[in-house]
Amino acid sequence: MLGNFSYCNPTKLYFGENSLSNLSDELKKYGDNVVFVYGTGSIKKNGIYDDIIKILKESNKNITEIEGVMPNPTVEKLYEGIEIARNHNADFILAVGGGSVCDFSKALSVSVNCNEEPWEKYFVRFEEPDCEIIPIGCVLTMVGTGSEMNAGSVITNQNTKEKIGHAFADEKIMPKFTILNPRFTMTLPKYQMVSGIYDIFNHICEQYFSGTDDNTSDYISEALMKSVIHSSLVAVKNPNDYEARSNIMWTATWALNTLIAKGKTTDWEVHMLGQAVGGYTNATHGMTLSAVSLAYYRYIMPYGLDKFKRFAINVWSVSPQGKTDEQIAKEGLLAMEIWMNEIGVITNISDLGVTKDDIENIADLTLTMDGGYKTLSRDEKIKVLSDSL
Ligand code: NZQ
Ligand code: ZN
Repeated sequence: MLGNFSYCNPTKLYFGENSLSNLSDELKKYGDNVVFVYGTGSIKKNGIYDDIIKILKESNKNITEIEGVMPNPTVEKLYEGIEIARNHNADFILAVGGGSVCDFSKALSVSVNCNEEPWEKYFVRFEEPDCEIIPIGCVLTMVGTGSEMNAGSVITNQNTKEKIGHAFADEKIMPKFTILNPRFTMTLPKYQMVSGIYDIFNHICEQYFSGTDDNTSDYISEALMKSVIHSSLVAVKNPNDYEARSNIMWTATWALNTLIAKGKTTDWEVHMLGQAVGGYTNATHGMTLSAVSLAYYRYIMPYGLDKFKRFAINVWSVSPQGKTDEQIAKEGLLAMEIWMNEIGVITNISDLGVTKDDIENIADLTLTMDGGYKTLSRDEKIKVLSDSL
């Protein structure tokens, strides 16, 4: 049964090749002391930095910059950003980059006016902000995380090797607006492009592989999965295919803007395993998910057989004729594996630098979710991680 829920997503989206032209009008709605946040250099190489600075200057904004936000942003970088934003009396944050820059900007937005220690408050105790939140806007350059239209933020603590995400409940943390220009993603290296594609696919899986009820959210998920599979195969052959890249961008946003989780339970254990691997290795997010997925889904398949059978038939067009439910479900996962190899994602954690000796530590850093078909014990986490080597 579709459960009770409320749904509100306040992020305004501008999509398409000319979408950056909306930035100056959006900026008029917010304060003059702008913190311009970006990553480790890509926007300076591809010219997006110059375009943004021009618009900010023409809008007469007082600009300060936080540059060098790294993939898997760290809490140390957050402390540095808080200082810069406080000194600037920041009243607006403009995030230009991928999920790391967006996530960092959200963490910054709830920390600048907060008197408590942000790591402990938001990523250990998972509290909601009780201070003034600085509004953020986003110009997305890397596709996958959905951070552009959600209230999630993932921060890494290098001292403890913990990588922790907080899906904030407060809608004020969501970007006020996001500019989505598929052309901006075309300078992404192929490794990042396919990592983002797998991230999208897994966001959908995490919300799909849970529950036994008949609900609209799962039908929407199947359609999104089919779109991303189709477009990914076009994009790996021709990364400049605008139609494929724009479909991938749009699917990413819908895969994690809370819509397909509505009225149903969700899993998220692949992300917990992936985040533990990521905290340990600093590997690229989507690749940490692809590296553990096959072992995880094969392990939990018997506990959610009906859904895995449905996945095989509805998403991968497996013919059910003359086969047992288990055979059908296995064929679905095989089809998924073939697709993963075709787009070129990493399918084992050894390729990310994990060794047998690391497994127990990573299992201990893996948070336990209980919404999926099987709640993993410590031994089961060790098994899944060992099967992923
Ligand atoms: O640092 P820059 O120069 O920006 O380079 C980045 C980075 O090296 C590069 N890049 C981005 N756009 C580019 C580009 N290179 C060339 N051309 C462009 N147009 O790509 C690299 C990866 O960027 P990053 O932002 O780290 O990737 P992604 O978007 O995958 O974000 C990953 C982070 O988001 C978190 C992950 O855990 C990870 O920390 N997630 C956030 C979620 C959320 N907010 O809801 C959910 C996700 O499941 C995920 O956990
Ligand atoms: Zn993800």
